[in-house]
Amino acid sequence: MSHATYEIKDRVALITFQNPPVNGMSYALRKNLVVFVDQAEADSGVDAIVITGSARAFSGGADVTEFGTPKVLQQPILRVVIEVLENVTKPVVAAIDGVCLGGGLELALGAHYRVAAAHAQIGLPEVKLGLLPGAGGTQRLPRVVGLEKALHMITTGQVIKAKALADTALLDKVVETDVVGAAIAFAKEVVAQNLPLKRVRDIEISPEGANEILQAAREKLENGKKGQIAPLKCLDAVQASVFMPFDDGLKFERELFLQLMSSPESAAMRHIFSAERAATKIPDVPADTLLRKVEKVGVIGAGTMGGGISMNFLNVGIPVVLLEQKQDALDRGVATIRRNYENTMKKGRITAEQVEERMALLSTTLSYDDFADVDLAIEAVFENMDVKKAVFSELDRVMKKGAILASNTSTLDLNVIAGFTSRPEDVIGLHFFSPANVMKLLEIVRGEKTAKDVLATSIALGKKIGKKPVVSGVCDGFIGNRMLYAYRDAADNAMLAGASPSQIDKALENFGFAMGPYRVADLAGLDIGWAVRKRRAEANPDAYVPVVADRICEAGRFGQKTGAGWYKYEAGNRTPIVDPVVENIVKEFREARGITPRVVSDQEIVNRCIFALVNEGAKILEEGIALRASDIDIVYLNGYGFPAHRGGPMHYAQQVGLFNVVRAIKRFAAASEAEARFWKLAPLLEKHAESNEPLK
Ligand code: 3HC
Ligand code: NAI
Repeated sequence: MSHATYEIKDRVALITFQNPPVNGMSYALRKNLVVFVDQAEADSGVDAIVITGSARAFSGGADVTEFGTPKVLQQPILRVVIEVLENVTKPVVAAIDGVCLGGGLELALGAHYRVAAAHAQIGLPEVKLGLLPGAGGTQRLPRVVGLEKALHMITTGQVIKAKALADTALLDKVVETDVVGAAIAFAKEVVAQNLPLKRVRDIEISPEGANEILQAAREKLENGKKGQIAPLKCLDAVQASVFMPFDDGLKFERELFLQLMSSPESAAMRHIFSAERAATKIPDVPADTLLRKVEKVGVIGAGTMGGGISMNFLNVGIPVVLLEQKQDALDRGVATIRRNYENTMKKGRITAEQVEERMALLSTTLSYDDFADVDLAIEAVFENMDVKKAVFSELDRVMKKGAILASNTSTLDLNVIAGFTSRPEDVIGLHFFSPANVMKLLEIVRGEKTAKDVLATSIALGKKIGKKPVVSGVCDGFIGNRMLYAYRDAADNAMLAGASPSQIDKALENFGFAMGPYRVADLAGLDIGWAVRKRRAEANPDAYVPVVADRICEAGRFGQKTGAGWYKYEAGNRTPIVDPVVENIVKEFREARGITPRVVSDQEIVNRCIFALVNEGAKILEEGIALRASDIDIVYLNGYGFPAHRGGPMHYAQQVGLFNVVRAIKRFAAASEAEARFWKLAPLLEKHAESNEPLK
């Protein structure tokens, strides 16, 4: 495969990249580009060269499918190709449409001139893969858009429309249509007027004011995302563009790029990139499955979840009808949605006009009859099977044939819910996370009878509303919450062994979580979990094992909202303060069980909590609840704040080594009977540790 084509149009050689879907800079493409450029240069019938991609992509950058293979380093590497372009003796014009990212933009910066479609999307997003632009981007972009803008683009991965870059030296012409035709005309003009073969590398950068800009950016990044090393390396490389001769800057950039390429952080972030895309592919659901149309959505329940869920659809222009039992509940729900939008407007993220546009798409009702024309209904009423039964019976009665009936239940059996209807094949779980308008995760719960096109439609819709969809089978807690139970129990076990809640929180925060489990509990409120435990204890008193959280709640401490929980809080201040009262409750709890506290290291805390996630994840995988280990990572990264630079619990386990994980679990289990009950090793984990095969 040549990954590029060559033709001559009116004495201009047109080289078109042909490596779908996004013209990644594969080895074949790089090689043939050089071959074609040489051919054009040698051909006396050619005056100039235009390089271009497709309407979807000039190029999405380095071909990520080649990462980790020898092809990445096979010559000509991208920087060599760029050097070839820069030194051609005939004008080279890049015609840019669609995305022009990473190595794609770096390549375009090697051309003498650039013509872009107004809507083309331009950026250097390597930092999002834990990398930096490694083919001269850090040296060339500041020369065409200025230091400050380049720094921002490179350290954040921001993508900008060509129209907004029209007044920079990055683009020589911006057009609304026919970018290739415009580039050919432009190339002929360059020839006709004998314009110079401009090289970005020759543009001077003024060091004036640079130190201040760099220092401000450095301070911001140092306070930024914990554990991510790429943003600061990006900054170091950009700094070199100001203070080093161009070729030295290129060499420095290369060194940093290679360092990042072999870092665990980048491996984790590249894993996330492919994991996110894999998660939306379901082995037994063909990619060309005909999707059902979803042009109007009904939401039942205007509470915490129903309101947030509705906003997702309003945001993308899909009308929503919201149903409640009483008018005042509807009024409250609508007022909350409006307030949320107005707050977003105050932060400057949307305009007043957009607020009104979105609110105009929202209607309300007290009658199911108004659901007759909706294509998808999502139920977000109380978590009670009788209530769900009443709702789904009504939905079954009124909804049109082919409509999708979804539940946002977090704990109930979706198959039972589907059984309340005469059309279980149309029923699916759409498990949003709170706040539903913000959290990226969407667990899509596939029931026993859910139809394939309902699943495919839900995944596509999830992507459309900006979520990260992951498919889960039916079980208590689905993928995420089931693992969360194990994580919290592991934290409690570490506490019983001798660690304090604040030590546990700090250890996990140092690992990369924004908040440890006890701070999260205080933020979310302890009373709901307590109510659930009390119900379980009443239903099954013999099986109930009390936990420290029961004692905390008995003391009236429900978290931040009561000014005290696992920590105490001063009025109007969310900073947790370690409270001797809690230390005492924990001490008494241990004493009542005859536990003598010991020193528990931070590493042991992290191992206990994360390996509990891994062990439960492996069980979930074995049971077929999750389709892939990487799906579990996506759940944890997007729903539970797992640090991105660790790649998710299953990826992290792989990096630690499954042998080491299994050994640690066996040692925890050996400590006591209670520990042995908790640490039941997943057979799949043991098998893979034994065979040294990665968990897939
Ligand atoms: N190489 C190869 N394949 C790529 C690719 C790339 N650079 N970028 C995306 N793809 C593939 C995806 O894997 C996906 O494949 P699939 O259909 O088999 O799942 C397909 O293209 C479509 O991708 P998306 O589902 O993400 O489609 P979108 O239209 O939503 O987004 C995109 C397209 C904006 C290009 C997005 O995929 C993206 O951001 N890609 C990564 C861009 C990037 O990070 N480039 C820098 C690479 S590193 C580099 O260039 C190093 C250099 O500095 C030396
Ligand atoms: P909520 O109590 O805030 O809201 C429920 C709403 O449903 C109330 O406004 C109530 O008036 C309405 N309602 C109750 N019965 C109804 C009926 N028969 N018909 C119409 N409306 C009715 O509850 P919340 O937190 O929004 O939870 C809703 C569902 O979402 C539950 O199934 C819950 O398990 C699930 N969920 C909740 C999450 C959370 O963090 N709160 C996260 C993920 C799922």
